[in-house]
Formats: sequence, C-alpha cells, structure tokens
Amino acid sequence: MIWTAALLIVVSYVHSEDYCYDEPHCDPYAWGDMFPSCHPLLEEHHSPINLDHQMTRNESLEYLHLEGFEEIQTGHWTLKNDGHSVVLQVGGGMSVSGGGLPDVYHTIQLHFHWGGPATNGSEHTVDGRRYPMEMHVVNMKSIHPNLTAALDDPTGLAVLGFFIDVVYADNVHFGLISQKLSSVAYKGQTAKIKPFPLMNLLPKNNMSQYYRYYGSLTTPPCSQVVVWTLYEVPVYISWSQLAQFTSQIFSTEEDAEQVTPLQKNFRHIHPTFSRIVSVSKDAKLLTGTASRPLMSAVSLHLLQIILLGSFIISGL
Ligand SMILES: *[C@@H]1O[C@H](CO)[C@@H](O)[C@H](O)[C@H]1NC(C)=O
Ligand SMILES: *[C@@H]1O[C@H](CO)[C@@H](O)[C@H](O)[C@H]1NC(C)=O
Ligand SMILES: *[C@@H]1O[C@H](CO)[C@@H](O)[C@H](O)[C@H]1NC(C)=O
Ligand SMILES: *[C@@H]1O[C@H](CO)[C@@H](O)[C@H](O)[C@H]1NC(C)=O
Ligand SMILES: [Zn+2]
Repeated sequence: MIWTAALLIVVSYVHSEDYCYDEPHCDPYAWGDMFPSCHPLLEEHHSPINLDHQMTRNESLEYLHLEGFEEIQTGHWTLKNDGHSVVLQVGGGMSVSGGGLPDVYHTIQLHFHWGGPATNGSEHTVDGRRYPMEMHVVNMKSIHPNLTAALDDPTGLAVLGFFIDVVYADNVHFGLISQKLSSVAYKGQTAKIKPFPLMNLLPKNNMSQYYRYYGSLTTPPCSQVVVWTLYEVPVYISWSQLAQFTSQIFSTEEDAEQVTPLQKNFRHIHPTFSRIVSVSKDAKLLTGTASRPLMSAVSLHLLQIILLGSFIISGL
C-alpha cells in the first residue's frame, strides 16, 4: 500500500516534469507550476505577443547580417523530434548580427510551431490573426560557452521568427525538411539532413521588413532573454506540406502505449504591457494579406442576415 503510494508519487512527479500542450496538468497555462519563470503574473516580458498597430517605427533598424546563410555548410544537420516540436540542429558556420542586435549570435537550431487540421498554429498573432505555422531560428550570443550561460543574460538569445502561410504550390526548399518528417515521427527519433543554404527557406526579398521586441522563450523555462525579430512577410508552403506537420508527428515515443499526435504546439498570447514593439525602416506595417480584418467578412454576413430578416418581415 505504502509502496504503491510512493510509486504513484514518483510516477506522477516524473510525469509532471515534462511540459505538454494538450493536457490541463502540463499545458501552457500550467507551466508556471513546474517552471516558476513561466508564471505570467510574476513577470511581464513574456512571448508570444499580438502584433497590432501600436508599434514604433525605428529608421535605424535595417537588414540583419546573416553570415553563412547563403552557403552550403559542411558536415550534416540533424532533424529531431523532441516531443514538443521538430528541431533542425545546424552545425557551426552561421551567425546573425546587425539590425540593432547588441552582439553577434551563433545560429544553433530552428524549429516549428503548428496547429491542427482546422486550427492555425503560429505563436505570434497579427491583429489577432494566427498564421498556419511559425518557424523560429534560434541564435545564441557568441560570448557564451553554453545555453545555461546564455539564459542568464537578458539578451542572451536572438530568435528570428517567420510566419508560414499556405498556398497550392509546394515549396521545394521546405520539402528538404518536410519530406524527412516521417523519419522523426516519434519522440527521440533523429534523421540526418544534408546542409542547404538556409536563406532558401526565408522570404529573401523582404528581409528588411521586420518587427523587434524583447521577450521570452515560448517554451519552459520561458526565460526572458530573447531579442525577437519577427519578419513581416511569410514563408509559403503547400497544404500538403502543412499537413505533414499536423498529421505525421507524435509527442510520444514509438513504443508508447498511447500514440498522441503533436498538434497546437503554441503558447498563448501574453500582454505587451509597457514594452515597445519597434518596426524596421522598410516594414510595411501589417498591410497586405496579414491585415485583412476578420471582422469585415463577419459583419458583411451579419448585414446580409439583417437585410434578409427585414425583407422577410416586411414581406409578411
Ligand atoms: C532604434 O534602434 C536602435 C538599434 O537597436 C536603438 O539603439 C535606438 O535606441 C532605437 N531608437 C528608438 C527611438 O527606440
Ligand atoms: C488561418 O490561416 C488561413 C491561411 O492563411 C487564413 O486564411 C485564416 O484567416 C486564418 N484563420 C485565423 C482564425 O486566423
Ligand atoms: C556553462 O558555462 C558556464 C560559464 O562559463 C560554466 O560555468 C558552466 O559550467 C557551463 N555549464 C555547462 C553545463 O557546461
Ligand atoms: C517584398 O519586397 C518587394 C521588393 O522589395 C516589394 O516590392 C514587395 O512589396 C514586398 N512584399 C510585401 C508583402 O511587403
Ligand atoms: Zn519556438
């Protein structure tokens, strides 16, 4: 009896150590119980946030310098299912600087956030609208020997965020990753990927259009050490490439009794509070596709219903 109780405590303790997205005891609203630094009430610089028109233009924010992004790096890269996302670990050779970043940052990995079959899953939102996916390119300040040290520095990480939107045509460069997803379906699985110019994945004609703010990791321990750069123009992939993320990746190990698809791996929006969100010199400020308010379609529909209603009433 005592043994059973002790075992239960151990099991639930081990279980609660990992975070998740889909169960109330470990989902983003419960992260603060396991990781105090994820508690949104104690700290005010969390991510993600909603991007709206309350932003400040800063004419000195120009292109970031993306070193090594146009080249084919040597060695191989590793794609990994870590149970929370699909991570592409890139070797050395790439770094980001300039564009108002306080230092040089080495590129260490990129990963993705997505939704479900009928849910968009970007972490940041634009005027309350979620894009289908978001890609994060994570860079660590070059003076730090390891991640532990970087997480102690208020500007220890620079993350480049890219919205991913969907069209009919496949994105051939993105296919180099999405084609490998079936090899990393289960937690812990890895696959080798031949390096390719990372710039091929990015909206290369619009790299001077971005937003900048100071925030946190969007996964535990939610450290408030991130200089965020969110690019305004999305990357486009096809519906079937999106479906590979929402249907082929599992948060559980291959031999787990219950197989749980990994979906909606995004953290909820946090208030901006007194933070300034800056707009780069060239950003168009949320015009174009991103700014079409959802309201107009809804209100038009309402208007039709009202008109139809009054027509019916007057007809009676
Ligand atoms: C504009 O950005 C630069 C580079 O990050 C920064 O030094 C400067 O303080 C910013 N200016 C304003 C008005 O925020
Ligand atoms: C989800 O993404 C699609 C494709 O970009 C877009 O048309 C739709 O408005 C988005 N839905 C929401 C609720 O943000
Ligand atoms: C990380 O770097 C710090 C600072 O140099 C060092 O004290 C620490 O032992 C390192 N931690 C690990 C896990 O390597
Ligand atoms: C992307 O950049 C091109 C070239 O500078 C520009 O003509 C286009 O309007 C930009 N696209 C968006 C959506 O801002
Ligand atoms: Zn992320």
